[in-house]
Amino acid sequence: MSILIVYDSVFGNTEKLAQAMAASAGSEAKAVRVGEVDEKLLTAATVLVVASPTRAFSATPAIKNWLKGLRSGALNGKKAAAFDTRVDTAKINSRFLLVMVKLFGYAAEPLSRMLAKKGALIAAQPAGFYVDDSEGPLTAGEIERAQQWLSGLLA
Ligand SMILES: Cc1cc2nc3c(=O)[nH]c(=O)nc-3n(C[C@H](O)[C@H](O)[C@H](O)COP(=O)(O)O)c2cc1C
Repeated sequence: MSILIVYDSVFGNTEKLAQAMAASAGSEAKAVRVGEVDEKLLTAATVLVVASPTRAFSATPAIKNWLKGLRSGALNGKKAAAFDTRVDTAKINSRFLLVMVKLFGYAAEPLSRMLAKKGALIAAQPAGFYVDDSEGPLTAGEIERAQQWLSGLLA
């Protein structure tokens, strides 16, 4: 089994999670920034995880464009799942933003739908891992929670 984690990251938090997850999943796992994924890596992967920071209720353009650009059926036969990083609603003190979050959500769910559209078998619920503030750091315990989420997906 070859596990590929394709991520984007602006401040480094999603990258940190992706690298820690790959490290915990053994020698067949690799985390690669979205601009550096080549066809060979993707073809060899039997499990694909896609990750993005939530920015304006969505994934980054780089991740969305990469997924959109895959040919139809490119992910046939692969297990896949998506996660994002996000701010906990408990830490948002603007009523307006809370309403917007309720309405528009986060990056992981639409990413998961895009994975399915390209033929992947969704093997775990989309997940969100928390940062303490807009630019991070990751909330305590989130690396371990993300590693557990990945083991669940691989089981
Ligand atoms: C311009 C901008 C927009 C953001 N929009 C959201 C959002 O809609 N929902 C949310 O939960 N967090 C939002 N955040 C916080 C990001 O999710 C946070 O910066 C990200 O998780 C950090 O990951 P990274 O270090 O990998 O970039 C936003 C942050 C910035 C700077």
